[in-house]
Order: sequence, then structure tokens, then C-alpha cells
Amino acid sequence: MPLWFKDAIFYEVYIRAFADGNGDGHGDFRGLTAKLDYFKELGVDCLWLQPMYASPLKDDGYDISDYYRIHPDYGTLDDFKTFLAEAHARGLRVIADLVLNHTSDQHPWFQAARASRASPYRDYYVWSDTDQKYKDARIIFLDIEKSNWAWDELAGQYYWHRFYACQPDLNYDHPAVRREMLNVIRFWLDLGLDGFRADAAPYLFEREGTNCENLPETHAYLKEIRRFMDDHYPGRILLAEANQWPLDVRPYFGDGDPSTGSGQAEFHMAFHFPVMPRIFMALAQADRTKIVETLRATGRLSIPENCQWGPFLRNHDELTLEMVTPEEREFMWRTYAPEPRMRLNLGIRRRLAPLLDGDRRKLELAFAILLSLPGSPILYYGDEIGMGDNIWLDDRDGLRTPMQWDAGPNAGFSGRDVPSERLYAPLIDDERYGYRRVNVAIERADPNSLWHTVRRMIAVRKQNRAFGRGRHEFLPLKNRAVLAIVHTYNGETFLTLNNLSPSPQRLSPTLRQWKGARVRGLLTGREFPPVTGKPYALTLQPYEYFWLKLDRPTSTGPGAASS
Ligand code: NOJ
Repeated sequence: MPLWFKDAIFYEVYIRAFADGNGDGHGDFRGLTAKLDYFKELGVDCLWLQPMYASPLKDDGYDISDYYRIHPDYGTLDDFKTFLAEAHARGLRVIADLVLNHTSDQHPWFQAARASRASPYRDYYVWSDTDQKYKDARIIFLDIEKSNWAWDELAGQYYWHRFYACQPDLNYDHPAVRREMLNVIRFWLDLGLDGFRADAAPYLFEREGTNCENLPETHAYLKEIRRFMDDHYPGRILLAEANQWPLDVRPYFGDGDPSTGSGQAEFHMAFHFPVMPRIFMALAQADRTKIVETLRATGRLSIPENCQWGPFLRNHDELTLEMVTPEEREFMWRTYAPEPRMRLNLGIRRRLAPLLDGDRRKLELAFAILLSLPGSPILYYGDEIGMGDNIWLDDRDGLRTPMQWDAGPNAGFSGRDVPSERLYAPLIDDERYGYRRVNVAIERADPNSLWHTVRRMIAVRKQNRAFGRGRHEFLPLKNRAVLAIVHTYNGETFLTLNNLSPSPQRLSPTLRQWKGARVRGLLTGREFPPVTGKPYALTLQPYEYFWLKLDRPTSTGPGAASS
């Protein structure tokens, strides 16, 4: 099975926000198709589409009313097919959200289920005469929901929901539900989709006396999906949204061994939820310890060779603070969400640039860290230009505003003549992050922009497979303000250094094991003095980062060629 995803750069697209192709104020597939060259230019390999299916949009499409139809706002199935063909023609891959855990309450299955106990669809959902079952399951949308049970008048029973009450959970104990979802998977893979981001993967089954997360039954079904995909669609991937501690995420990779065909594989990739907030903590505390501890713990869990972590900085949800201690959460809220309106559930509803004070140095550093952590990085649309947010919009809508293409009417997101009131959400139009200042056109024209810097980092990363495939070790520097990672692959060695602090940091590691190596800055082409075995003096300016290639004259791997 080709391991393309191990070298890939992923990019999360909210279709509604990206580009409006028909002037109705909503982004759609026609608009997205017209922007495909943008992703090539940036160096993206795989798009992750948020839900594109028919939906009443009570949770932005994560409430599906028909798994087989494209939401009319986004176009038709033919528009989707054209989009996919055009993406593939450019060598781009596309995965899409697969919402397994729940449907919309408007889904015909639920409508039939609630209408009659005799309906064959009744058992598609989880019903109960009391709301006292599964008490150990936490409530996820804490700010809105008070219980995971909702009373349905027509049904005369309670139904189970892990998210909004309008998203009833499917009953995976029912074989028909398990079959239905395989049909959904088959349908989209037959159309050529390259895989799925499995939404809310841990919650499929419920069992009394447990927290109803990560249950063995859930893993067994997910493995069945994987087997089905491997048998019929090799090369397509599954990415897990499992917001859990590393120890609990590890089983989502399964234990399939590609070389022997033994064991049972589950996901190809999983988001790395715990490291994400720790990147922000490390920046605020000028201390790498929490990143290193988390990644060491992750490293000890070693995942199979054919699997990959998916680190990210931000996504379409609040910056989740579930995988931190209560003290760390308080720290994060104090530091990054000083206004109550910035908080949502157990998280922070802000975008990357405002979180980092729009400080160009911190933004670059955050990208440099993201792009050099073990795994395949996942970018969120708009962060590459440093887009802002609008905390006054509802729920998580403030992170999902129209993409800022240029300084013209409607920011180039929609037609020039479309009244701005028609846009599905207001543009960011403030002094600091507004579309007149922050947009793709301006940044593309300026070789020193954040966009160009991110593009260059991506390009360098893609020329050097060690980033996606190599072994990662932390250099044990005394100075905790510097995060230093050694990446090795096929005889090549890279050293990435990140100054997490607002003051210059001097280092003098011996780098003894690389004695004699030539040192070259990958992002700048700058030659550094060779390693002599004596302390190697380096100074990093505030928030500065270096990506260094160490070419050992004696090494026998391919890296030796340039030494
Ligand atoms: C996780 C998604 O990222 C989020 O946006 C959604 O609300 C929930 N799952 C429910 O599907």
C-alpha cells in the first residue's frame, strides 16, 4: 500500500468559506474547483473537506440528513465529480469528513424511528425509557447541552446524543447500521475520494459502567471499515478524530503489520490532540518541556510503520483544552482567552493569528514547529495568511469566516456585485486582520509575507523525506527555551531549532556525534561553520528558528553525497 500520506501536507477546507462560484454568498464546489491551483502553489498534497452532505446545518453539516447527496449550497454531485477530477488531474488528493456517530434529527431514518416503535429504523438509534443510563459519559458541548439524553415526544422515549440534541447517535449494536455506513463509504470511494476523516470516532458504542469512549466494540467496527477499505480501495486512508490522551489514541492505529500481513490495522492517521495546546503553552512559557514530555510519551507508544500522526495548530472547532490538566487549562484560558467571549465549552474560539497577537515571529515559529514535528501536518484554511476571527459570531462561526483573497469587494470570496449582506457570514473587516490588509493577493505579491514563508517551509519539508518519515529525537539542551529536534532518515540528519522565547538564546551544544559535518540552513541556504566537536556556538534571535542539514563526510547514506 503506498504510504503517500506520510509525506503529505494536509489542508482543511470549509467549502462554504472558501470561494463562491455562483454568487449566492456561499462557497461551493465550483468556487473551490477554480481555486485548485492555489493549493498546488502553496504545496498542499491533500485536502480535507468538512461535511459536504445534505444537512439542516444545525452543526455546520456535522448533522447529516442524507449521506448520498451534496448540500445544495455547495452544488450538485456532478459539481463534486468535476472538482474531484480536477483535483486529481493536479495530483491533489481529497479526503472528506465521515460522520459515523450520529445523523441529523431530520434524517429520514430518525424521522421514521421516532414515529413508530415498529419501524425497521427504530433500532437505528439508542432509545431509553429513562435518562439515567450511561451516567459516566461526559457531556461534550457543555455550554449548550445539560444531558446526553433528549426526550422525544413523538417517540415517547429518550434518545442518546453525544453532541447537540439535534444529532441523535446511531446504534452501532444494530448490524443494519454497520452495513449502512459501509455502503456510504463505498459510495464515496467509488466516486474516487481518497479517504475520510472519521468524525467523533471514539463514541460509536455505549456500555453501562464505562465512559462510552474507546470501547473494544468501537475499535472492532473501525477495524472492519479498514479491512473493507484495504480489500477494495487500497491506497485510500482513514484519519481519526479521537480527542484523547496518547495512550488512548494508540489503539486507533491498530497493529497491522504491512510486511507480514499480520495483525489488524485500524486508522492510517490520527490527529495529535495532546501536543497541540502544549505548543501554545510552550510559546507562552518559553519552555519546551511540555512539548517534549508529550512527544516522548507518544514516541514510547510507537505506532506501526504504515501509520502517521497528524499534528495541527488550529481547526474549525474551538482550540480544545480537553487533553490538559485543570491547571494547564486555567493557564491557557488566562493567557489566550482573557475575554469570557473567547471561551467555548472546554476551549478557546480563536484563530491562530489573533492567539499569537498577530506577531509575525511567533506565527512563523508556530508553523516551523508544526512542520517539523513527527507526523504529517494539517493546516487550517486562512491560517497561512494569518486570518483573524470574530468572537462575536455564534458558536464556532467566528473561525469560519470567508477566505480573504484580495482587498476588493467581498474580499474576492464572492462576486464583486454580490451585496455583502448576502455572504453567509460577515468578512473580517477590522484594522488588524481585516481583508483589506490581510489577503492572499497582497501576500502573494510580497516575497517576505507569511504566506511565502509558509510556502517555502512546505517546499523544503517536501524535498526532505526525513520530516515525514524520519526518526525524531530531542537534543537535551540545558536551555529549555529552545526546542531542538534531530531528524534522521536514510543516513541523512537534520537539526531543527526553535527559540520559544522573546529574548535571544545562546547555545553551545557539542554535536559531537556529527563531528566534521558540514552545516547548511535549509530555509536560507546559509552555510554555517562545520561541526568540530568543540561546543558549537549558535545564537537564536527572539522566536527565531533554524532548519539545519548536517552532512557528515564519513556517512555512507545518500546524505553523504553532498558532503
Ligand atoms: C467534531 C467536529 O470537529 C465538530 O465540528 C462537530 O461539531 C462534532 N464532531 C460533532 O460532529
